Amino acid sequence: MTSATDWPARLAEMVYFVELTEEDRQLIRASAPIINKHARSLTDTLYDRFLEYPKTRKFFVTETDEEDEERIEGNKQTMIRWLRDRGFADVGDSFARYVRAIGMMHRNLPRDRAQHGPVPSQYVIATISFYQTAIATLISQNIPDTDLATRTTIAWNKLLVVELDMLLGVYLNDK
Ligand code: HEM
Repeated sequence: MTSATDWPARLAEMVYFVELTEEDRQLIRASAPIINKHARSLTDTLYDRFLEYPKTRKFFVTETDEEDEERIEGNKQTMIRWLRDRGFADVGDSFARYVRAIGMMHRNLPRDRAQHGPVPSQYVIATISFYQTAIATLISQNIPDTDLATRTTIAWNKLLVVELDMLLGVYLNDK
């Protein structure tokens, strides 16, 4: 993926392809409070998992492999904000720029951690899967109307997969 990629156009096409409709976006917005209530505990669980695997742990420890609490908490806060922002279901140009910037940061980490190389793409995929599973579970537990719960889960899945394309697009050489 090159800097010449038209990210807003790519996003718009993906939104159209997966049929992420205005109704889906309303379902996401309506259910966001359910998800946000658990944002902290979900993020804690995710980071416990990051710390278990050497290829993800390395980003959050000191040179002597001690957990870097300050960095971990800072990153957790960005993930909590990210999840909260998803609840607005904004898929316009500013969303495209924001997600592209996250992808670029994963690809080219700040200089003090450049030695670790990029965040491995498989863990970005796994992280999206983690949230898909968590969100589907929370929705099924909190929305008793099964039809509404199913439609809401489908809407979140579409949004997260569109975002996954953007997050990993910067890793790819296709256009
Ligand atoms: C759904 C997948 C992910 C999302 C949405 C996400 C989101 C973010 C966000 C919002 C930032 C801050 C960007 C900024 O400050 O401009 C960030 C930075 C970062 N992320 Fe992720 N992330 C994801 C997956 C991962 C994974 C799997 C890892 C590796 C374990 C990771 C490691 C990092 C690191 C090391 C930074 C840089 C932090 C810094 O020093 O400023 N991320 N990510």
